[in-house]
Amino acid sequence: MLLFELSAAPGLATALVGHTADALGELALSHFPDGESHVRLLSPVEGRDVALLCSLDRPDAKLVPLLLAAGAARQQGARSVGLVAPYLAYMRQDIAFRAGEAVSAAIFGEVLSARFDWLVTTDPHLHRLPDLAGVYSIPAVAVSASEAIAGWVAREVENPVIVGPDEESAQWAGRIAQAAGGRATILRKVRSGPYSVTIDPAGLNELATGTPVIVDDIASSGKTLIEAVRLLRERGFNDPVCAVVHPIFAGESYEELRAAGAGRVVSTNTIAHPSNAIDVSSALAEGIARALGPISGAGD
Ligand code: R5P
Repeated sequence: MLLFELSAAPGLATALVGHTADALGELALSHFPDGESHVRLLSPVEGRDVALLCSLDRPDAKLVPLLLAAGAARQQGARSVGLVAPYLAYMRQDIAFRAGEAVSAAIFGEVLSARFDWLVTTDPHLHRLPDLAGVYSIPAVAVSASEAIAGWVAREVENPVIVGPDEESAQWAGRIAQAAGGRATILRKVRSGPYSVTIDPAGLNELATGTPVIVDDIASSGKTLIEAVRLLRERGFNDPVCAVVHPIFAGESYEELRAAGAGRVVSTNTIAHPSNAIDVSSALAEGIARALGPISGAGD
């Protein structure tokens, strides 16, 4: 396989080819004066299985170069073209919440399924959708960062008690707590807008003594983590740790989270961010092998 990096946390592409013993291709991306993207594959792809590595946070600007790179690989005779998206965007708008809204998860899934032969991602936001097949028609493998996060928690936090800030986080918090040998306390959250959440403090009555580790899949506006930290501090817990899979941290939210009283804030390298402390390259490499295996075997 030949892996081309479009956008990823520093070191992730090299780590991936290290795990898979594949090669890193060279790609040049630039823009014309009118803003259109220009993509050039500098490594020959004819007859090769190609994978494009592109984390899809802030996805709109990345989508066109990604589609052009996939198209270029096909035009130049690649045997297959896959997408490694450590973070997969547009998974949260999976229904029309109000009349007239685009169900973006389905539309985005259709666009990418038309251009790629397979997809690998980390902990996609599957809430109402049971799996990626609900919106992707190509083989789509979802790997989990839970083991890597659980390993970090076990190494770095003394007497951790895992907290999921909302019901959707139960899947990640539960897996991490289990790996750490305990149970997760799952809180109830109500979101009244993109920047507005409230969390029912009653759930904290159940919380054992220890260092709270708030675990969530995405920090976007950061409001979920900020509110959870605020409640924990109010209850006298010191320096809650925040461990997040996908650190989008829009605007000033990372700084706001620190100011709210969070202790350590760590994330995985699915998205480049100063909080990156947990490497998911080995989980992704495993996912690539699973996705590519049947495809690369088929033509041999
Ligand atoms: C809930 O749907 C997710 O698990 C996250 O809690 C949520 O996406 C975080 O978003 P924000 O950082 O905007 O509160």
